[in-house]
Amino acid sequence: MSKELMLRNIERAQRAIDENRETVKNGRMRQRYHFMGETGWINDPNGLIYYKGKYHFFYQYNPYYGHWDYMHWGHAVSDDMLHWEYLPLALAPSESYDDHMRGGCFSGSAIEHDGKLFLMYTGVTNDGKGFEQTQCIAYSEDGIHFEKYDGNPVLTPPEGVPSHMFRDPKVWKHGDTYYMVCGASRDNKAQALLYRSDDMLHWTFFNVLAESRGEWGYMWECPDFYQIGDKYVLMVSPMGAGERTVVYMVGDFDYETGKFSYQIDGEIDWGYDYYAPQSFVAPDGRRLIVAWANCWDWMPFWKDWGPAYKEGWCGFFNIPREVRMMPDHTLQFVPIKELSALRTDGYQADCIIIDDEELKLTAGDGISFEMKMEIDLEKTDADKLELYLRSDGEKRTVCTFDFANGELKVDRNSSDGWSRGISRSTLFLKNKKKLDIHIFSDQSSIEIFSDQYQNNHANNVFAAGLQNQIAARAYEGRVVVNHYESYKINECFV
Ligand code: FRU
Repeated sequence: MSKELMLRNIERAQRAIDENRETVKNGRMRQRYHFMGETGWINDPNGLIYYKGKYHFFYQYNPYYGHWDYMHWGHAVSDDMLHWEYLPLALAPSESYDDHMRGGCFSGSAIEHDGKLFLMYTGVTNDGKGFEQTQCIAYSEDGIHFEKYDGNPVLTPPEGVPSHMFRDPKVWKHGDTYYMVCGASRDNKAQALLYRSDDMLHWTFFNVLAESRGEWGYMWECPDFYQIGDKYVLMVSPMGAGERTVVYMVGDFDYETGKFSYQIDGEIDWGYDYYAPQSFVAPDGRRLIVAWANCWDWMPFWKDWGPAYKEGWCGFFNIPREVRMMPDHTLQFVPIKELSALRTDGYQADCIIIDDEELKLTAGDGISFEMKMEIDLEKTDADKLELYLRSDGEKRTVCTFDFANGELKVDRNSSDGWSRGISRSTLFLKNKKKLDIHIFSDQSSIEIFSDQYQNNHANNVFAAGLQNQIAARAYEGRVVVNHYESYKINECFV
């Protein structure tokens, strides 16, 4: 009976997608190369996996309209993470443990087990006792059609964890054992809970992998845990840690005790539109992460989700990034190399001098472009460099590299008549000879990577089609650019 209910709900969602697809396709704010849903609202990436020769992206999805509600799992596959084929929805609310308008099938992950594709997700319901979150399983023989496990839920919140603060399981395998880390809150402090299982179905609590003592907020959403070299990385999206909303920690882990001790913490991205990244391994061994390019209403800098809902959709993913470790064990987040296949209209120049007169720069059509530059810090004596992006002469996003005060700022206050705020990070240039800047712009977003991909800002900008000029200006001196290169980026969703 309930198997049929999920199928019926998937078909119903599919009909809504069919009805709205054309309208959304013609949306003016639609992204050209960032991953989007076909219609409606998307948030977190879920179940990212390379499975049987294809990349599978699942996503938190309300196919019906451009606001969060009633969570389904959308599903798409790709050969290159650029061009996507949408598949039928993987999960729809249908059971007593996951069928609620303000709940449904929340975030989770995927793993291959027993020749099948297994999903682990959080079921969210509310029978009048408040929201209840439990961990649930679904599986598929063909990687397309999923069935929920009869024994669901496989885990309920442990003692001391409120029923609405237990979510987002991320599974992996080590040796013959499956492990799962899950976000939780206890005594109003965030925890990452570690579980293990021999068969993917029966799970037992192992230990508290890591926890906040208050410094990292009261709840960690979408924890992820993986090894790079001989170190381990925990990524969390904390609630209640101010503007720190996507944190990574690097340290040591002991499979005997299930304890992680970290020596390093850093921010994956300082922009306002980068949340809930999930990692997976590409067939060539790269550790890749993908995040949701938006923010929640509980974040200190939130204004709204942007105007795209008027076009029947909202939300997209940031470009996938490769995680690399530096010799000092801090992390770099580098745009995937696959993106270079979309380049056209290349432009290159060496030794550009920027002074206090605005200099026009060329990059593709000024909307969907990639731009790279290397600044010679030894020859640069300016106090700051400003880049004006998505400009029409009046409106523009201002990106400031403030050498004198050691700060990087992205100012959206005059960007599009909609977005607000200035995202900031420390620009630490002591003993450095060069500063690298790498920018990806799309119809509705600007992603800025700098300082060896360790100082990154992803921000959404809903600029009109006429905002396609780019310029640069230096203050109190000159900026010497050793090398400049730019490209137009071809559209993927046609
Ligand atoms: C993170 C999150 C998750 C939850 C999902 C609901 O963005 O709040 O914790 O599972 O979104 O859509």
